[in-house]
Amino acid sequence: MPKKKILFVCLGNICRSPLAEGIAQSIIEDKNLKLKVDSAGTSHWHKGEAPCANSMTIAKKNHVDISKQKSRPITQIDKEKFDYVIAMDKQNKKDLEAFGFQKVSLLGEYGNYHGEDVPDPYYFSGLQGFEKVYEMIEVCVNDFLRAEGLL
Ligand code: 4NP
Repeated sequence: MPKKKILFVCLGNICRSPLAEGIAQSIIEDKNLKLKVDSAGTSHWHKGEAPCANSMTIAKKNHVDISKQKSRPITQIDKEKFDYVIAMDKQNKKDLEAFGFQKVSLLGEYGNYHGEDVPDPYYFSGLQGFEKVYEMIEVCVNDFLRAEGLL
């Protein structure tokens, strides 16, 4: 069976979706799952950049390495390539739909968050806000994999 492919999307692809990709990748490796995961931004503002320092720090604290990721914008090819496209907030979902993506889910639909947005931590000062963001993404990614029968 071909590997199912998952794409996590936020605005800049430097704070939230790199965490979702890193957490999913670490579960995939731990459990030896036949899945592929990637992440992208609805903007090209940070194209080629590494994840933001706070996301790298909070990931590292949780034994997840996202330091080799590079920001990239969504592309037309992504529309065909991925089985699951998961937005971090409602604006990301709107922007993906306007770009022509179909069947976009919200990460906050999983893990008992009732469709809440993953808060945009770009303007947070310090690590504190990132702890909460990390926790939400971790719970939701795990629940997404379980709910979709991918575990
Ligand atoms: P992300 O966070 O969408 O989680 O990567 C942001 C990154 C950059 C900006 C906004 C949010 N920005 O305005 O440049």
